[in-house]
Amino acid sequence: MNHAAITAVGAFLPEDRLTNHDLEKMVDTSDEWIRSRTGIRERRILWDKDKATAYMATEAAKEVLERRGIGPEEIDAILVATVTPDMLFPSTACLVQTALGAPNAWGFDILAACSGFLYALTTGVQFIESGRHKKVLVIGGDKMSSILNFKDRNTCVLFGDGAAAVLLEPNTEGNGILDTVHRIDGSNWPALQMPGGGSLHPPSHETIEQEMHYIQQEGRTVFKVAVKAMADVSAEIMARNGLTGDDIRYLVPHQANLRIIDATARRMGITSDKVMINIDRYGNTTAGTIPLCLYDWQDDLRKGDNLVLAAFGGGFTWGASYVKWAYDGANVATEQEAVASEYGRNGV
Ligand code: ACO
Repeated sequence: MNHAAITAVGAFLPEDRLTNHDLEKMVDTSDEWIRSRTGIRERRILWDKDKATAYMATEAAKEVLERRGIGPEEIDAILVATVTPDMLFPSTACLVQTALGAPNAWGFDILAACSGFLYALTTGVQFIESGRHKKVLVIGGDKMSSILNFKDRNTCVLFGDGAAAVLLEPNTEGNGILDTVHRIDGSNWPALQMPGGGSLHPPSHETIEQEMHYIQQEGRTVFKVAVKAMADVSAEIMARNGLTGDDIRYLVPHQANLRIIDATARRMGITSDKVMINIDRYGNTTAGTIPLCLYDWQDDLRKGDNLVLAAFGGGFTWGASYVKWAYDGANVATEQEAVASEYGRNGV
């Protein structure tokens, strides 16, 4: 059986930065509180009212095609993980398909909050492993600012906007997404939700007055469950694949809170230099966090590197994936050159 491997990564981040100091002027908060509780310094915001998740997802997908050197007609399927689709329907995948001009693709959206990218990745893997498809675009992105109440300090400091995309293709070398552990548990659903706008509470004057179209979170409940759940699945996927901390090149965690990430890394027995962290720059971009990490670190990754991707989100949803990276990043050549010139300098 062929495995499904990531063969290119692309991303889009809005240019506008919203710093903790900016937020100090909007709500009763402080840079110190936000940094010490979450690790966030700033986040990106797509203020443009005419652009939303589909725009960011399309830009990320375009970069994937460019990096891989293929045309949009080669794409078989487009899967978009998001909780902030441009509208309930058509799906974001349809909007991305037409913006890209991908005539041979089908696709759909996947809603699993902060675990959305992992779930979409696992879904894309099935199409490749079954032999049904050769090229599947998996995109994770959210315009979280569209559902943030910038008067609620409990939530507005935590999130940011952004999207990233990966291409999945068959791999015959034993690399790719090798295993997954995914779970859902709806019993705690009220702890993290956006109550308005669905079929239970369709938009009305009442839902607007009661601020039901914003994200609502009981932070402490979510934190307590997330810290255990993300560590548990990460340990589980390592155990069932016979991996120890020494075998892991990187933990690629969902970026919700630095303390949740640290707890997961400790449980896995890995040091902080093996953890991808960009929450300080982007905040929590929900479905965007994990592919944005892969994007930022892709030049440093080597073929055969062991990665554990782990997420926890509203629902609750959570999971982990074991990935053997399939290609050498751009920094490989640079490093070899550095070694060569080092030898040259030392006269060896
Ligand atoms: N600035 C200052 N004070 C604040 C702020 C703020 N921005 N936000 C809340 N507070 C106050 C609260 O009002 C509360 O005050 P009170 O004690 O007087 O009621 C107090 O700070 C809360 O403090 P803690 O309980 O110590 O805060 P905690 O350490 O739990 O941190 C946080 C809060 C950051 C939200 C944390 O609980 C968290 O990260 N939770 C998990 C988030 C997460 O993982 N979400 C899942 C993914 S999101 C998704 O799926 C879409």
